Amino acid sequence: MTTPEQLLQTLQTDIEQNTFGEHPVELYEPIRYIMSLGGKRLRPLMTLMAAALYTDEWQRALKPAQAVEVFHNFTLMHDDIMDRAPLRRGQPTVHEKWNSNIAILSGDVMLVRAYDLLLDVESDRIKRVLTRFNQTAAEVCEGQQLDMNFEKRWDVSEAEYLEMIRLKTSVLLGFALELGGIIGGADEEATQLLYEAGVSMGVGFQLKDDLLDVYGDPAKFGKQVGGDIIANKKTFLLIEALERAQGETRTELDKWLNKKEFDKEEKVKAVTDIYDSLDIRAFTEQKINDYFSRGFDCLERVPAEPARKAPLLGFASQLVEREQ
Ligand code: IPE
Ligand code: IPE
Ligand code: MG
Ligand code: MG
Ligand code: MG
Repeated sequence: MTTPEQLLQTLQTDIEQNTFGEHPVELYEPIRYIMSLGGKRLRPLMTLMAAALYTDEWQRALKPAQAVEVFHNFTLMHDDIMDRAPLRRGQPTVHEKWNSNIAILSGDVMLVRAYDLLLDVESDRIKRVLTRFNQTAAEVCEGQQLDMNFEKRWDVSEAEYLEMIRLKTSVLLGFALELGGIIGGADEEATQLLYEAGVSMGVGFQLKDDLLDVYGDPAKFGKQVGGDIIANKKTFLLIEALERAQGETRTELDKWLNKKEFDKEEKVKAVTDIYDSLDIRAFTEQKINDYFSRGFDCLERVPAEPARKAPLLGFASQLVEREQ
């Protein structure tokens, strides 16, 4: 049986061999840059692990798995422009290192390259895979637009937030597992359960991302800690704080949220102190665990040999602990 470490190694080599294109160099260099910065590679790993549930020929899923990773990196390149983010995986973001026009266009060609990689799917399944991929990609854009809309709103409910993160983040994790299932030869019930497992874990994953944005260790997180607070992002933490804060705490929170000019560090510290005083951290951790265990339950119900499922279950239980 192939271990997740072996899957990751093979995937990594496959990614390194892809040059994406040559000329003009300004178009392709940022792609090689972002793809070489590492990242956890969790989505393509999920695709390979899901394929390995049903076939020993999981290599058939390598290029499609890479497609998911390239698509993910494309969304990050554009997301960093939209979020005005300076750091990604511990290094300058593409729009900071080059400029926004370069990040837009390199991102565009990455989306095209993702389709090239998906063309590796067997012809009897390609239409199904493309249909599902297109739906997922459109949903990610919908989620990203809602995320932008919410920056300017103050009455975002928890339900609206959960729907926004389902779209911007979770459906891609769901698709990553579903894709592996389809390529591996899973039946309808199994692919549906794989998708649902990925979506639930994806919600937990984005909640954890929100938490790490405030409480992460800058050395491990690789992104600007406090970026969401600076941009008034309607994260789970802020929505919950807006619901809980009363009296002076509420006045203080509103003051920071309405400030146009501020010292970034000072705002991050002040808002974090408010989160601390309202016990937001423990509450968020509880939510994260709830969503991961829902995902875990779905995975347990996926019909596959227990020995083949063990690596995927192990991976899912580690993901909840991540610090980057
Ligand atoms: C970051 O995704 C974007 C989110 C959906 C939270 P990852 O945390 O998977 O980023 P990398 O690929 O490992 O850098
Ligand atoms: C974005 O969420 C998820 C995407 C679809 C790119 P975030 O904006 O929170 O992701 P990070 O924190 O920049 O990685
Ligand atoms: Mg964003
Ligand atoms: Mg972002
Ligand atoms: Mg984030």
